[in-house]
Amino acid sequence: MSQIQSIVARRIWDSRGIPTVEVELALEDGTIGRGIAPAGASRGQHEALELRDAGEAFGGKDVQQALQGLRHEIAPALLGMDAREQAAVDQRLIELDGTPNKSRLGANAIVATSMAVLNAAANSACKPLWRYLAGDAAASLPMPQIQIFGGGAHAGRRVDVQDFMVIAIGATSFEQSLEMTAEVYRHAGLLMQRKGTLMGVADEGGWWPAFSKNEQALDTLVAAIEAAGYTPGLDVGIALDIAASEFFADGKYRLALDNRSLDSNGFAELLMRWIEQYPIVSIEDPLSESDEQGLIDFTREAGHRIQIVGDDYLVTDATRIRAAAACGACNTVLIKPNQIGTMTETRAAIDAAKAVGYKTIVSARSGETEDTMIVHLATGWDAGQLKVGSFARSERMAKWNEGIRIETSSGASLPFANGFRRMA
Ligand code: PGA
Ligand code: ZN
Repeated sequence: MSQIQSIVARRIWDSRGIPTVEVELALEDGTIGRGIAPAGASRGQHEALELRDAGEAFGGKDVQQALQGLRHEIAPALLGMDAREQAAVDQRLIELDGTPNKSRLGANAIVATSMAVLNAAANSACKPLWRYLAGDAAASLPMPQIQIFGGGAHAGRRVDVQDFMVIAIGATSFEQSLEMTAEVYRHAGLLMQRKGTLMGVADEGGWWPAFSKNEQALDTLVAAIEAAGYTPGLDVGIALDIAASEFFADGKYRLALDNRSLDSNGFAELLMRWIEQYPIVSIEDPLSESDEQGLIDFTREAGHRIQIVGDDYLVTDATRIRAAAACGACNTVLIKPNQIGTMTETRAAIDAAKAVGYKTIVSARSGETEDTMIVHLATGWDAGQLKVGSFARSERMAKWNEGIRIETSSGASLPFANGFRRMA
């Protein structure tokens, strides 16, 4: 019944107007499942590799090779396999590719296939994906981390820090966390408009700011939280994704906006000052993925007070997560399925994080589509937190809206994961 009967691969377009891979497969019982590969702009060097054609078309980013591999290798290899056997399908994909970083068939082709298989299996069981994933285990609505200003690689490097986000730490439901964030986002836009610092929206829908210092972003964020009627640090906290690998070279962190260059200790001290001065509850990639000692030291300094999230450094890889725990770097893991390439390996990364006592945040990429699968992953896998960009643009809102649907249709059975409440 749930045998894979046909697989269609097509090129569709992501939120930046860049080609991406969609896989649609049909099972013998007539159900279909779809998977769409997202795409990052600030990638970790240990991520699985997405296959792009190079050449003239679409800035070298076409995906015809990935589609060829899907049609001529992946599809014939998976036909007849049982979609409920996710681990076996994913193992088949890994063996078929045969490289350590999925570079031959492409992580974009592989992740889209793996996602499609999982969706098909859930559809065949007539269950929403989150419920199919949870089975008898615990599930919860995740706490959202929502971007207010975009920077770094997502806003022409206008500010050095990539994401200035908020977490509605006082919220008692998913829906309420969105209501609170909507007001903060709106007030941030109004404040910036008044001061002439609003340039539009960045890649993930956050305001594109014309600030003259990184601290101006933090000050504006605090002012926006207050203007929205909330107490910073009590109702709403600040989360940053420094994405520090992006401006680290030759042992130095180069802050273009502040016209400063700092060594690892100096940059960590700057971040510690920000933690003292602002209601920061979470910092992602505070130091470069290649500055492991810096990450260890920073975690020792600040890890008991705030969340220290590994994205570029951990790349959703269970082996890297266990190694980081052994040396004491970070205390939270960002989970992006296309960093590792299959659903089974993504789940293994979550399990590895939980086993070492690290928290988890399921995350979208800056290049997204209308696909809402990650909301179900975060819920069904009881991940605790969800990061999908800002509170604008439909590829982001589709995810927040899906969370509302899950919350309101599940009755009281599904708790809202607010692990920050004790901070408030
Ligand atoms: P991305 O970055 O552009 O690689 O998706 C998002 C992030 O750093 O969290
Ligand atoms: Zn990041």
